[in-house]
Amino acid sequence: MNQIDWGSLGFAAYKTRTLVLCRYKDGQWSEITQTEDFSFVMNPFAGVLHYAVSCFEGLKAFTQKDGKAVLFRPEENASRLARTARYLGLPAPSSEMFVEMCLRCVNANREFLAPYGHDAAMYLRPLLMGTEPKLQLAPPSEAVFVVMCAPVGPYHGASMKSFSAVIPLNYDRAAPKGSGSYKVGANYAATFRPYQIAHSQGYNELLYLNSATHEFIDEFGSSNFFGIRANTYVTPLSDSVLPSITNKSLQQIALDLGMKVEKRPIPVEELAEFEEAGGCGTAVVITPMSHIDVKPVLEEAAVQSTYRFMPEGQVGPACTKLYKTITAIQKGEIEDIHSWCLKV
Ligand SMILES: Cc1ncc(COP(=O)(O)O)c(C=O)c1O
Repeated sequence: MNQIDWGSLGFAAYKTRTLVLCRYKDGQWSEITQTEDFSFVMNPFAGVLHYAVSCFEGLKAFTQKDGKAVLFRPEENASRLARTARYLGLPAPSSEMFVEMCLRCVNANREFLAPYGHDAAMYLRPLLMGTEPKLQLAPPSEAVFVVMCAPVGPYHGASMKSFSAVIPLNYDRAAPKGSGSYKVGANYAATFRPYQIAHSQGYNELLYLNSATHEFIDEFGSSNFFGIRANTYVTPLSDSVLPSITNKSLQQIALDLGMKVEKRPIPVEELAEFEEAGGCGTAVVITPMSHIDVKPVLEEAAVQSTYRFMPEGQVGPACTKLYKTITAIQKGEIEDIHSWCLKV
């Protein structure tokens, strides 16, 4: 294997060494297996290929200051996957099985875990899909659960820099009472085209509003939204956003840092009141926003309004403090008072 340049990693699929697998058939899960074969044989009638019966998770492993490897809050990902699996009618791996497979994946791919001191981590991607060959519209009775990983750097190419987002009023992310709060693959497919358009216009992110009325902020395509005003961390209360583990952690950190936390509907116009705003998630950690534009039609030039938080590229004090604290916990630089890091 070539030496990995830990400093220049982005967020990309990467061929590592080992996949950790489990198959569900006849009402039970198989033994956990490991393979170095990255090819996947599947019946072309498999439900995942036609009806998108698939869901996934994302979590990270880090090398801490003392050289030990940890996973960040894997039980939270296990319970979120189980919730999504129930929604799709897929069999859910137990929390023990989920965590065991993640630990095995880290151990079997240890050379892809960045040493301490780099702005890089190992991203784990647990994937659950229905593989039963089936034409009927009914939950599959066969499934595969696989955990894979990739060495990753900052999602948007840099860590502490601000980015821009656009609210595309002619696109919605999730239907009211739909799949928005579940990590189903199909939620993401629908964002690819608007992302492509937004990126071509120089925006880094898409920020979606609640589909029913377009009055309130839901979330970014890749992460939850938060805003900062008067020493308060404000994040949307909506049943259409993914319950982000990073957001949950940042809310606790904000309280620990003496800030207030509000989880409530956020009207779009309130963007004008925020001193700082950003996205948060496992992949992005924190994406501070310099500004957010509202566009009636993403494809067209007209901008209805612009909300500015920071000069281009600059990051505010609250985002900086939150980012530094969560990454210091992950890297074992400060005490993990909430026991979020699980030793590998
Ligand atoms: C749509 C969406 N919202 C929020 C998040 C953040 O969730 P978490 O912090 O658990 O990674 C993600 C994933 O990173 C996401 O894809």
